[in-house]
Amino acid sequence: MNILLLAGDGIGPEIMAEAEKVIAALALPVDLDRALVGGAACAATGHPLPAETLAKAKAADAILFGAVGDPRFDNVERHLRPEQAILGLRAELGLFANLRPAKLFSGLEDSSALRPEVASAIDLLIVRELNGDVYFGEKGTRTTASGERQGYDIMSYSESEVRRIAHVAFKAAAGRNKRLCSVDKANVLETSQLWRDVVIEVAADYPDVALAHMYVDNAAMQLVRNPGQFDVVVTGNLFGDILSDQASMCVGSIGLLASASLGDGTRGLYEPIHGSAPDIAGKGIANPLAMILSLAMLLRHSGGDEANAARIEAAVAQILADGCRGADLGGTMGTAALGDAVVAALNG
Ligand code: IPM
Ligand code: MG
Repeated sequence: MNILLLAGDGIGPEIMAEAEKVIAALALPVDLDRALVGGAACAATGHPLPAETLAKAKAADAILFGAVGDPRFDNVERHLRPEQAILGLRAELGLFANLRPAKLFSGLEDSSALRPEVASAIDLLIVRELNGDVYFGEKGTRTTASGERQGYDIMSYSESEVRRIAHVAFKAAAGRNKRLCSVDKANVLETSQLWRDVVIEVAADYPDVALAHMYVDNAAMQLVRNPGQFDVVVTGNLFGDILSDQASMCVGSIGLLASASLGDGTRGLYEPIHGSAPDIAGKGIANPLAMILSLAMLLRHSGGDEANAARIEAAVAQILADGCRGADLGGTMGTAALGDAVVAALNG
């Protein structure tokens, strides 16, 4: 398997180094390549997703991605900002299905922003659509008739886009606890009404999965009131972005949530859901566990290697149960020490 490592910006290179330790410890039969992406690529080439990086991504079997985002480029034209690298990769590679699992690791009951008995019940999967919505619609600034500046971003979903993500979500639910909650804002948005109609149509193919619908504001509330009620949640690009950050704090830290971005084949891009965290970059205190758990998802979904995926997840669960904690979880272990602990657990 050819894996392209795109470390990116901020804490990206630090956490990627820990994932590489795990690759080495497992002696995985993989070929690694590297390329520039995000602000690092902007600085070197003037573009956040250089043609060479995109070509390597298209040729790879899987991409392990750190993070992009660099305050030095916050004021450049939007299409040249570091974030465009990840959006461009998702679009160019047709990675429309973003899986973001959130489960409370045992030992972290008191780290959640929620009460321990509420947090303990969390074992959910957010299936976020990744190629459409307001993220990719026409956008711009214009001047109104009265001479005011106005910003706009068009939200839209076509039925084929909804149908394909609905199938991914129903299949995921069929393999879990057979409950799917579709999150939308159909009481206000036409885009959401179509979303809901199409999800109901697709449900006919999955009689064993119980489908429910929830407005996004209610879903945000339910996620902190009673997150244990959720099994699989399917939602659009924008709502999924927001709800997955919220879910991360319900299980203790955004430094723990991994994700897989998948298309029609087995090629995928795997990344922590968090960003480049420029405020802590270079300090050696970032949590590498979301990055390491993203490697596990890579092995499962693109590598067909469930055994090593499960080994990595068990090692992470073990070090957390043993009390290993970085700064994000109120502890003192640094990035490298946490990576070393995972490697020791794998070898142990
Ligand atoms: C995420 C991130 C990205 C997104 C940013 C970096 C463009 O927040 O993966 O959740 O909004 O999708
Ligand atoms: Mg996000």
